Amino acid sequence: MTAPTSPSGRVLIIGATGFIGRFITEASIEAGRPTYILVRPGSSSPSKANAIEILQKKGAIVVHGLIDDKSLMEAILEEHEIEIVISAVGGEQILDQLSLVEAIKAVRTVKRFLPSEFGHDVDRADPVEPGLAMYREKRKIRRLIEDHQLPYTYICCNSIASWPYYDNRHPSEVLPPLDHFQIYGDGTVKAYFVAGTDIGKFTMKTVDDDRALNKLVHFRPPCNNCNMNELATLWEMKIGRTLPRVTVTEEDLLSVAAENRIPQSIVASFTHDIFIKGCQVNFSIDGHNNVDVSSLYPEEPFRTLDECFSEFAAKMGKKVHPKGEVAAQNPVMEAIAIAAMCS
Ligand SMILES: NC(=O)c1ccc[n+]([C@@H]2O[C@H](COP(=O)([O-])OP(=O)(O)OC[C@H]3O[C@@H](n4cnc5c(N)ncnc54)[C@H](OP(=O)(O)O)[C@@H]3O)[C@@H](O)[C@H]2O)c1
Repeated sequence: MTAPTSPSGRVLIIGATGFIGRFITEASIEAGRPTYILVRPGSSSPSKANAIEILQKKGAIVVHGLIDDKSLMEAILEEHEIEIVISAVGGEQILDQLSLVEAIKAVRTVKRFLPSEFGHDVDRADPVEPGLAMYREKRKIRRLIEDHQLPYTYICCNSIASWPYYDNRHPSEVLPPLDHFQIYGDGTVKAYFVAGTDIGKFTMKTVDDDRALNKLVHFRPPCNNCNMNELATLWEMKIGRTLPRVTVTEEDLLSVAAENRIPQSIVASFTHDIFIKGCQVNFSIDGHNNVDVSSLYPEEPFRTLDECFSEFAAKMGKKVHPKGEVAAQNPVMEAIAIAAMCS
């Protein structure tokens, strides 16, 4: 077992400007940890630059580099005395972590490594292609970490709390529908939904917790275990009206997956795995290296789907009543609000 990480242990986050990485970075700063973020030289789109500036203002320290540059990563880890490394690189860069793993092995001072996981247990789940190819890459990173006996935690946080669009990579960037619901299969297969802020918060709790050392940490908040039909009903309560439900069959999802368009086909294959095959709920958390995050932090609440959907409704310019129902504002205002969000 590695020596305990001090609460002030320095954290390096890779992918801090990404969808999941931002939540983790915010949570790390909020937890009061010295937080370094690795920024790719030249990644200077206005939205990324803005994201970096916001994180810097909150206290993040920027270091420039690429994770696939082993010697540079060794230098960064040593110079900044990094104890915890969290990677949240996207699906297309999973194998870039091979060099990072080698750099962590070489310096021998990192007390915990969290590779880019943040989804399902990739050793248990078995989606169709092209999702499976990404899981094979994540498995390869796991095996290298284990072969090198590096201290790790694998975060299996399941789905982000939002409407799960089967063709959209980052669902919580798109608000739930106002025209019709697409229901996968018969809509009865359950999944776990976790707010992005909770993915960040609970991830950061595990990083120096010995109980999470060399473990898979599963996020299964009982309050957010929901199927598509329940999700649709919840959203109808929030917007104060019912919407037509259109079935997306198993065959529909498989045919989008087979088109092999990236990222849509990858998302379709995961949607099939979640809402048709039940990959989040078809196993129990057992075995010495698996732990449920709720058993580690039973006092710590999760944001509920009800709260998340109220927030979505509020963003849509709706007035949310305390008990959850909504009163639609003037439809013209509603259309303006939605157009503004989509622009
Ligand atoms: N549970 C869920 O619902 C869910 C949803 C989405 C993703 N995920 C998982 O979360 C993880 C992160 O995915 P994401 O979609 O959040 O990623 P993303 O939005 O594509 O962001 C990727 C980040 O990695 C950085 N990056 C990429 N290559 C790099 C390199 N060579 N060196 C340094 N930085 C590099 C990017 O920097 P730039 O700013 O330079 O581009 C960006 O900040 C993945 O494992 C994914 O499977 C889970």
